[in-house]
Order: sequence, then structure tokens, then C-alpha cells
Amino acid sequence: MAGFQSLPGFRDFYPEEFSRRQHIFRVWRQAASAFGFQEYDAPVLEPLELYKTKSGDEIEAQLFSFTDKGGREVALRPEMTPTVCRMVGAKAGALKRPIKWFSVAEFYRYERAQKGRLRAFNQFNADIFGEAGPEAEIELIALLIQCLSSFGLTKDDFYIRLSDRDLWFFYLEALGFTDAQSRGILVAIDRFEKMGEDAFKGYVEMHGEVAAEMKDKVLAFLQIKSLADLEAVLAPFKSDKLATRLSDWRKVLSGLSAMKLSEFVAVDFGVVRGLAYYTGFVFEAFDRKGDLRALAGGGRYNDLVKKLGGPDLPAVGFAIGDVTTGLLLEQRGLTPHFVTAPDIYAVIGGEAERNAAFADIQALRASGWRVEYPFKELAFGKQFKAAAESGAKLALIYGGDELAKGVVKIRDMTDRSEREVARDQVLASVRDFLSGH
Ligand code: HAM
Repeated sequence: MAGFQSLPGFRDFYPEEFSRRQHIFRVWRQAASAFGFQEYDAPVLEPLELYKTKSGDEIEAQLFSFTDKGGREVALRPEMTPTVCRMVGAKAGALKRPIKWFSVAEFYRYERAQKGRLRAFNQFNADIFGEAGPEAEIELIALLIQCLSSFGLTKDDFYIRLSDRDLWFFYLEALGFTDAQSRGILVAIDRFEKMGEDAFKGYVEMHGEVAAEMKDKVLAFLQIKSLADLEAVLAPFKSDKLATRLSDWRKVLSGLSAMKLSEFVAVDFGVVRGLAYYTGFVFEAFDRKGDLRALAGGGRYNDLVKKLGGPDLPAVGFAIGDVTTGLLLEQRGLTPHFVTAPDIYAVIGGEAERNAAFADIQALRASGWRVEYPFKELAFGKQFKAAAESGAKLALIYGGDELAKGVVKIRDMTDRSEREVARDQVLASVRDFLSGH
């Protein structure tokens, strides 16, 4: 019979993979806690309606959705943002602001199989609600950098591309594009990196040709690499909206510079983000070599809480994925070794000695030491071999002769030296020995 396998795009986490995943989660949680974010969780299954039109066509097409036994249209969550908006929206009045929340959770998208993209993956989400100013962006971009650099990754390994959907819209408006046309242009910009000039085909079909001079002006925006470039491109336009955005850009970039994080951040208007709800700053993190798909993505979404029935509440946030992060850590040799070694291996003479050993094993484990012992009676030689293979730092030997004298032997597994200790001193001796190692 052919064995069962996990579904395409879903992973089994054998202990070694599980420990790697735990390492990633632990680093994320530590970073979030250093920044004063609070952890929350939410259901994996949500009403389908939550994602309809709000997340965008791409995510909607990838939903794992079905009708439940009560006739409800439901979907496995493809992302956290609508859920966290619903939660915050429902209690917004009672929550102290700014609301800084994070979560580590699994998400489901029916994607085509490709490197770095699965159908079940984990994300670390961090979001700030109730802060309309760019201070929230500074906090989140700094957190995103810490979430990656805490693994040992440096500015040579990853960077963040910072862009702005509002600025795009205001710029296109200043160039004379209507709102519908601007949306079409942004779709083309989203595809431009992959497809080049062909990215504009869809726009041309819907709205007609773009005059060469206009297209040059649109593409000039993609050449912007610094605040100075941005100021130069916008200089000819007299618009309050553009001026306000520029002032926010100055704040974000100078805040990050004061935190000595500028080297991690690139001004890059090629990022526009596919999700439908973003309103202002948007950003994505990538590996420097460009081998991998995005490590993280996020931005401001000031309208979503209200659209989902909550109050008018500004919001900004991002999510990092565990799949691309894991691949990058592997490429850079930054995955920790999988350690299962116990601290102590108990070598037990025979059935008669087992109960004495059990009493100590239980007391040692209750004090937090990792203790292993053989389930079945084995010759001493085999047990010492097992003790050595386990990687334990010390062995406790429960032999008949020792127990008769009221002692056990402690063997240092590194140099095989042994000494006797009184039964009632086992815990203290183990503590002395292991704290020195
Ligand atoms: P997103 O760009 O769709 O944004 O996903 C964020 C990250 O999740 C990606 O950069 C990637 O690392 C990971 N990811 C997404 N889809 C997959 C997949 N199929 N397989 C593996 N990893 C994947 C969002 O989800 C927004 N809700 C983020 C956000 C939070 N915006 C505001 N707050």
C-alpha cells in the first residue's frame, strides 16, 4: 500500500525542523517584546466575507474556502490583517493607544508550488493601531530590521524597500491621471520588474495608450533612490498633498538614520504591494542577493478597520514569513544545531536498583535537568555506550554495590573520571558539576 503523504505545500515538522521553526519564533517574539508589542491570537477559520474584496483579487483566488455543516461560507485565514482589524475594531474604545500587537501564526493560501511559497506557512505579524503619524512607521521598520538582524543577518544579507502608495497616487494625479487610470498604472508598476514594458499592456487595453512623455515621467519615479532624488522629482509640482507626504518621508528617514538603520533601507517606488487595502507607506524586505521571494511585506492601511465595521482607526503593520526567512538562514549558515542531548544519563544496574534510580531521576527532572535512562534492563557496557551516544555531560551510576553503601557514582562523560557521592547529595552534586560546564 502506498503510504499517505502530506498535501502539496503543507509541511511535516520532524523534531529537527520543529526546533528550527521554534528558533525562528523565539527570535521574533524576543524582538517584539523588546519593542513593547503584546501578543494575541485568533481563529484559523473565519467568515469568507472577511476577505472578499478587502484583501484583493490575488488572495481571494487563493482562499481555502468551503461551506460548513451549518451552511456558513468560511475560509482558512490567508493573512492576519482583516482578523486583527476586526478584533481591535470591536474593542477599540477600551484599548490603550497606541495599540501595538503581534502574533505568530499559520496561514493558508492555495498557491502554485514554487521555491519559498507554500500553501501553509507561518507569519509574524506586527501592527500599530491609533497612530496616524510616521512615528508608527519608524517603530515598525525598526522592529522588522531587528526581527531579521537578531538571527545574525546583516545589512549585507537583507534590506527593506520603502515606497508610498499615497505618493504614487498624488504624483500621478499631479501628472493628470484620473483615479481609475492611476490604479491601472500601479498594477503595471507592480508587474514592471518582472515583465518590463509588457506590464503596461493591461493598462493600454483598459485606458488607451500612455503618451511617451507621460510614461517617461512615470518611469522616472522608479529611478528615485534617495530623499534628494524624490525632492528633485517633486520640485516642479505645487501640491499640499505632496508637500505633506514629503515631510512624512523626511521624518521616517531621519528617525531611521538616528537609529543607525539607514543602511538597511532603500527608497524604491517599484514596490506598490498587491494587497488592496494599503493607503500610505508600503515596504518589503528582500535578501540582498535577490535569490528569494520577499521575506516580509507591510504598510499603512488607514481605512480597513472602518471598512470592517469598526471605528475610524489609522493602522500600519507588516508580516514576515517563516519560509523565506528559513531559506535565507540556511544559505547563510545561521540555522542553529539541533540539540537533543540530555544533561544526565542514568545507568541502572538491574531491577533491584531501578526504584532507587527512579526516585533521583524524578527529583532531578523536577529541578529542571534533562534526564534519560534505558527503559529496559541492559548490561552496563551497553548502557555506557548509550550514555556516550546520548551526548549527556554526566552519567549517574546506580549499581548494587554503590547503593548498598548509600552512594551513587557520578561519571564525567568527557574524561570518564568517576567519584562517589552520598545518595542525599545527588541533587547538590549534579548542580555543582553541571553549573561548571
Ligand atoms: P504578504 O506580502 O502577503 O503580506 O505576506 C507577508 C510575507 O508572508 C511575505 O513576504 C512572505 O514572506 C510570507 N508569505 C506570503 N505568502 C506566502 C506563501 N504562500 N508561502 C510562504 N510564505 C508566504 C501580508 O500577508 C499582509 N497581511 C502583511 C501585513 C500585516 N500588512 C499589514 N499588516
